[in-house]
Amino acid sequence: MYVNLSGLNVLVTGASRGIGKAIASKLAEAGATVAVHYNKNVREAENLAHVLGNDSQAFQADFAKTDEVNSLFDRVIGEFGSLEILINNAGVAIDTPITETDKKWIDSWNRTMMINLNAAGILCYRAINHFLQRKSLGRIINITSRAAFRGDQAEYLAYATSKGGMVAMTASIARAYGKQGIKAFNIAPGFVKTDMSQDFIEKYGAEYASGDISLERLTEPKDIAPMVTFIASGMADHATGSTIDINAGSYVH
Ligand SMILES: NC(=O)c1ccc[n+]([C@@H]2O[C@H](COP(=O)([O-])OP(=O)(O)OC[C@H]3O[C@@H](n4cnc5c(N)ncnc54)[C@H](OP(=O)(O)O)[C@@H]3O)[C@@H](O)[C@H]2O)c1
Repeated sequence: MYVNLSGLNVLVTGASRGIGKAIASKLAEAGATVAVHYNKNVREAENLAHVLGNDSQAFQADFAKTDEVNSLFDRVIGEFGSLEILINNAGVAIDTPITETDKKWIDSWNRTMMINLNAAGILCYRAINHFLQRKSLGRIINITSRAAFRGDQAEYLAYATSKGGMVAMTASIARAYGKQGIKAFNIAPGFVKTDMSQDFIEKYGAEYASGDISLERLTEPKDIAPMVTFIASGMADHATGSTIDINAGSYVH
């Protein structure tokens, strides 16, 4: 089987590190031109875009700000001319105990929803309209989480909820726009070794994460990227609306 994504433009959000970086790298290896989105890590993102080649470029946007999410889409279209694939990967997991003060707990909830769910929703809205106007193929791949199905620790109520919302959004897009050529998928990783999961490891210990899985080692970003690339190719289009679990056997539903 040969995956060829040359001539396709892909926006990968949160591609400066972790899972997004691995996805961007695998897509470019298959020939895609990648819009490498980042928030703070400008050097990593620009470096990555340069290494990826295929005229890939880095784009900054803080997803806590609605106007920056919107302008990101405009800037990508302005530079690339079109977009064929959107990958909503950027996210935050903010440790917020239930004993936190009202203001801090509510701010943390709102920030999580804005970055993890609202920004992804706005980008889906922009991408769907773009695909419909061009009468072109369009694929959306949303990086959700095992937490959407299994739930999460008490400190990550907002995180799990934002990821559950993403699952419903993906299914709705798949049902609504399939006949117009738009497909949507969820990838639901379990624990993946990245900066995001480091806080969890520090709090609960590596054994907590490894004891949970049925495989011999913890999942790494490189274990997620091939599935995303395969879906991006169109070979899985008849799985539109579905969620592919990549959680090392820790939660099979
Ligand atoms: N790691 C896991 O165990 C795990 C499990 C299940 C699902 N996931 C999901 O997988 C996705 C990637 O996670 P990861 O572990 O690779 O995370 P990560 O290593 O912490 O990277 C997060 C990415 O999101 C970007 N980002 C953070 N805050 C942002 C903001 N305010 N605006 C725009 N972008 C922002 C970061 O950009 P900068 O670095 O440029 O600031 C970075 O590229 C997330 O959606 C996460 O929920 C992760």
